[in-house]
Amino acid sequence: SKARIGVTGLAVMGRNLARNLARHGHPVAVHNRTEARTKALVTEFGDEGTFVPAETPEEFVASLERPRRLVIMVKAGAPTDAVIEEFAPLLEPGDMIVDGGNAHFADTRRREAALRERGLHFVGTGISGGEEGALHGPSIMPGGSAESYEALGPLLEDIAAKVDGTPCCVHVGPDGAGHFVKMVHNGIEYADMQLIAESYDLLRHAAGLSPAEIAEVFRTWNTGRLESYLIEITAEVLAHTDAATGRPFVDVVLDQAEQKGTGRWTVQTALDLGVPVSGIAEAVFARSVSGHADLRRAARGLPGPQNDVRYLSGFADDVEQALYASKVVAYAQGFHQIQAGSEEYGWNIDLGQMATIWRGGCIIRARFLDRIRAAYEADPRTPTLLTDDHFAEAVGAAQDAWRRVVTTAAQLGIPAPGFSSALAYYDSLRAERLPAALTQGQRDFFGAHTYRRVDREGSFHTLWGGDRSEVEA
Ligand code: 6PG
Repeated sequence: SKARIGVTGLAVMGRNLARNLARHGHPVAVHNRTEARTKALVTEFGDEGTFVPAETPEEFVASLERPRRLVIMVKAGAPTDAVIEEFAPLLEPGDMIVDGGNAHFADTRRREAALRERGLHFVGTGISGGEEGALHGPSIMPGGSAESYEALGPLLEDIAAKVDGTPCCVHVGPDGAGHFVKMVHNGIEYADMQLIAESYDLLRHAAGLSPAEIAEVFRTWNTGRLESYLIEITAEVLAHTDAATGRPFVDVVLDQAEQKGTGRWTVQTALDLGVPVSGIAEAVFARSVSGHADLRRAARGLPGPQNDVRYLSGFADDVEQALYASKVVAYAQGFHQIQAGSEEYGWNIDLGQMATIWRGGCIIRARFLDRIRAAYEADPRTPTLLTDDHFAEAVGAAQDAWRRVVTTAAQLGIPAPGFSSALAYYDSLRAERLPAALTQGQRDFFGAHTYRRVDREGSFHTLWGGDRSEVEA
């Protein structure tokens, strides 16, 4: 009998995805470049379902029922191209290659177009939730053709996380749409993590709480509107003690954050699309700053404020409000980027559905996403989540505390780039007039770049070097 689906690339994500499929009763073909991994999978987990191990690509492809569903779980970039080139010649029209790695959506668009020429479907699929998610139910964001989703969707929905009985998997849109949405998911993940890190830093150095005490604060927050996977694991990490030294774990970890690239891609793409994702950008830059050890060493002696740590009553509650409001901004910016990408590439992405499939399985899963789903349900064309009735009211109620936290951070010299840039974005959108008018005046002065007027149509230029009269451009 043949396998319903195949997974090649059996590192931990691929292995767990294969096990998840098998556990759901789908016979799954498994293949790895070095055969030892395939053998180990079958030996260790063979009793979880039906695995069909294959030694060679030919054997692997031959073991799949048609249309063939071949999932590749290898490193993004050149390794993915290599594996596609290895398998595509063995496939027949109508078969599909599913890329479950963190590929750049532009690569996915290129691969999809190339394989379409050869009569094959290429389905770039975002998969979030790490190792545990892959095994127990990830959030799945497949792109590719609607036709490929017909053959693949039911299987993916079967193994995805479920929230209120709804699978955290939906056809995002054609070609690179799935990987684009996964990329923005990761950008939001970076922003969320940065905001949580700033909250911790402020509670520690402004309010003077210990990591164990801060863990308790996060545990409390996790029973309210901030309830989320990231808040939950933050409490776990902060409560952890290093066995070797007896010190808080967070104090023995080198304070240089790393990144594999998806956050950076989100910001690069946002710049190309002209979408202000300042919260995500600050998060990427904050990791970058942390990693510049030499720069930080050189600057360590620079003067700061003369304030001491002090107990600030009600401060933890203020930080909760700042975190909530900044988080709404980060998500509003991320969703704006998805909307812009969808328009640019003609993907027709349903934003409410994205919030729906992120409610479970993925790293940014949170109670809050149900509110985002509701906001798009109420108005699918809302220009920003910030003006949704619920969020406008909640952020409006939080803004005084938010401002106090940003002020306190500035006064004490504690960096809070996420909180402060989110607040600046909020105030920029709110403003009746922005100083962009002055910027336009300067551009016209030095480069005759022209400006538009508030009271008349057209483009204008002032003769700055002459009699300063205005001419129509
Ligand atoms: C997920 C995660 C995952 C990613 C990590 C690492 O959704 O399961 O986003 O895909 O590998 O978040 O990202 P960085 O190494 O860039 O922090």
